[in-house]
Amino acid sequence: MAASMSASSIEVRTYTGGPAPLDGAQMMAANPYRPWPARITSITELTATEKLFEFRLIDDRIREAFHHEPGQFVELSIFGVGEAPISISSSPSKGGFIELCVRRAGTFTEVLHKMQCGDIVGIRGPFGRGFPFEKMKGHDILLVAGGLGIAPLRSLINNIHDERSEFGKVTIIYGSRNPGEVMFRNQFEMWRHRKDFDLYLTVDHPDDTWDGEVGLVTKPFENLDIDASNTFGAVCGPPVMYRFVVEEMRKKNISYDRIYMSFERNMKCGMGKCGHCQIGHQYVCIDGPVFNYWEAKNIQGSM
Ligand SMILES: Cc1cc2nc3c(=O)[nH]c(=O)nc-3n(C[C@H](O)[C@H](O)[C@H](O)COP(=O)(O)OP(=O)(O)OC[C@H]3O[C@@H](n4cnc5c(N)ncnc54)[C@H](O)[C@@H]3O)c2cc1C
Ligand code: FES
Repeated sequence: MAASMSASSIEVRTYTGGPAPLDGAQMMAANPYRPWPARITSITELTATEKLFEFRLIDDRIREAFHHEPGQFVELSIFGVGEAPISISSSPSKGGFIELCVRRAGTFTEVLHKMQCGDIVGIRGPFGRGFPFEKMKGHDILLVAGGLGIAPLRSLINNIHDERSEFGKVTIIYGSRNPGEVMFRNQFEMWRHRKDFDLYLTVDHPDDTWDGEVGLVTKPFENLDIDASNTFGAVCGPPVMYRFVVEEMRKKNISYDRIYMSFERNMKCGMGKCGHCQIGHQYVCIDGPVFNYWEAKNIQGSM
């Protein structure tokens, strides 16, 4: 007997092929220890020991899901060599690529400096707490960088520049040991020229080519004209610098509550699991690397 079926008795089942595929954010969250392949797309030699690398995450979904705050860092891996925490130097306002400014210091960074455009590395993150960008809006900003401290601050500076109308007066003080170590000079000079920022470049040891300030990064404070009641401070540099810069900020009456600084400490996991970066009750990788003055005061050896 031939089966007869009315249309209403047919059960329509859609084969889904299993659970819905994960989006980029879910893929990263599923295993935060997993480095995602990224290609080096540009390398700029900044000084004798520092290079700016641009990376592009290869998987479209990961690339689209990657968002960071200025001041956050990534764990960068070179397969077969190791992994190192590096601050993100590009602005969150420009998606699709990640810039890292890396100093040749030892084994890992030596290998990175020998890599070429097209080579593949691994990136996981972003990690940590960055600068309070939204809270800073509507205020004047005083940024003080010493040496490689410009790397994380550049992310904040570029971000501010891309949303310039949201901020008041922006002053940058950037100190280096000598003129050959000044990074991103052309970009900063251009912004100064366009009156986007007040810029003070200073070096400890000038040469014949140097026409900027001479002295420690605290020197430009002597002539600084700021409205302390409306100013946020952001500081990053070698450990010895923080105490003196914060002292100068206080002499200008900037409130401790509005002084933020970024620290480097030895790290491993980057996400509060291994304890490598623990100081007292703080994990620098998740409670920082950006801290406000009161938090930083409790970090042993930082102030
Ligand atoms: C949150 C964070 C952000 C960072 N951002 C940057 C960045 O933007 N650019 C950059 O070039 N580096 C950055 N670093 C430092 C970077 O991780 C180290 O320089 C790198 O791991 C050194 O690896 P290496 O194998 O080449 O050198 P190693 O052989 O491990 O060390 C070489 C020398 O560098 C010193 N060193 C190693 N690690 C650090 C450290 N964390 N801080 C200070 N001195 C160190 C060692 O004591 C040694 O003298 C950051 C570190 C942290 C924790
Ligand atoms: S690096 Fe592992 S806890 Fe901070």
